[in-house]
Amino acid sequence: MSENIRVAIDGPSGAGKSTLARSVAARLNFLYVDTGAIYRTIGYAVWRKGIDPRDRSAVVAVLPDLEICLTYGTDGLQHMELNGMDVTAEIRLPEVSRYASLVSAYPEVRAYLLEMQRQLARENSVVMDGRDIGTVVLPDAEVKVFLTASAEERARRRMLELEERGTPEPYAAILRAIQERDWNDTHRDAAPLRQAEDAVLLDTTALDFVQSEDAAAHYPGEDGTMSEKRPLNGFFVCIYYLVNLVAGILHPVTIIGRENLPEHGALLCPNHNSNWDPVLVALKVPVNYRLHIMAKKELFCNKVFDWVLRKLGAFPVDRGEGDIEAVKTALKAIKSGDNLLIFPEGTRVEHEGALPAKGGVAVIGIRSGAQFVPVYVEGNKRLFRRTRIIFGQAYRPEATSRRPSPEEVQAIADEVLRRSYALGKEAR
Ligand code: DC
Repeated sequence: MSENIRVAIDGPSGAGKSTLARSVAARLNFLYVDTGAIYRTIGYAVWRKGIDPRDRSAVVAVLPDLEICLTYGTDGLQHMELNGMDVTAEIRLPEVSRYASLVSAYPEVRAYLLEMQRQLARENSVVMDGRDIGTVVLPDAEVKVFLTASAEERARRRMLELEERGTPEPYAAILRAIQERDWNDTHRDAAPLRQAEDAVLLDTTALDFVQSEDAAAHYPGEDGTMSEKRPLNGFFVCIYYLVNLVAGILHPVTIIGRENLPEHGALLCPNHNSNWDPVLVALKVPVNYRLHIMAKKELFCNKVFDWVLRKLGAFPVDRGEGDIEAVKTALKAIKSGDNLLIFPEGTRVEHEGALPAKGGVAVIGIRSGAQFVPVYVEGNKRLFRRTRIIFGQAYRPEATSRRPSPEEVQAIADEVLRRSYALGKEAR
């Protein structure tokens, strides 16, 4: 059995597949395969030869003459070669898009390319984007995403992109071309574009990656070097909404008191009763809330988890030891104006009082000058049952010095935990 991992991302043109796929592949060190580029290469060959793309037998007849190669340049980018010539730039011509869409409808063309795509996934861990990856090319892919957005939104994005490149086109013409390609891709008999049953649907109509990235630029760290920031990039925004969607179905949550969250320098301190707590709290603060999460190091057990968790702003703590590195990371985060989620009990507990709060939360809070925010997360998270997360009033603990006695540290940690549970009692 192959140990390679396959991530399939399908969806209509212009939904942001390649941006997402490229970013995921780069971070996981997987091979990014843009299958649209392969179809475009055939479209280009047909165009160059002056063949009518609607003439199926003429298109099919040309296939044996084509030698298509996919190479990766020193820039790490996928290059397409057609009979020994690099055609990476040429296949992006608008006319070639139309040709690619038409020739990709022919079963002979699809069959011709199928083995090539599967071979790449046998030899490498891949993030492959296209139209039929999750349904036909890699039906057993470990991860399947169907990324889409309305035709109008995709046309709007494309218009802005063309304007930036200095080659503007009218919106109406762009929209028409997108609608035409959508129609071709979804109405052909051979491997039409559709969502695989086991794919996660991600509709990005309401998300604007460019705006998100701009917003991120306004939150530089103190020295700009923090690597574990909750990153407000396209990938993070996708994951945030994607996981929110899934978690929202499994565990619907009523949020109370979100207005209590200070914008900067807050230490969010929830009680901890289930594995879902960190995920739910992290998801229920706004997407642009600069949140770091102190999480047990066991969760960072493999490359994928490690990467995803760090992307979501988490960093590891060794709970057995006094983990100085984790404390330093936490202090740095708060001092740079970000916020931190930390569970005072340090591990899951059944009920209040089962474990005292750990002193670490108080040490971090006092040394960083953070505002403490008690948070109550309702327990007994049975699937599909609504639970509540309550954010309490922020406050600053009164400490006699920046290095208080162990007793004072314990009292401060106990107090925030007491306030967290009190929120639950008040709400009953
Ligand atoms: O993703 P793209 O726009 O570069 O793709 C070009 C064309 O290729 C598109 O019209 C649909 C087709 N295509 C396909 O039929 N199957 C794929 N897996 C990828 C692309």
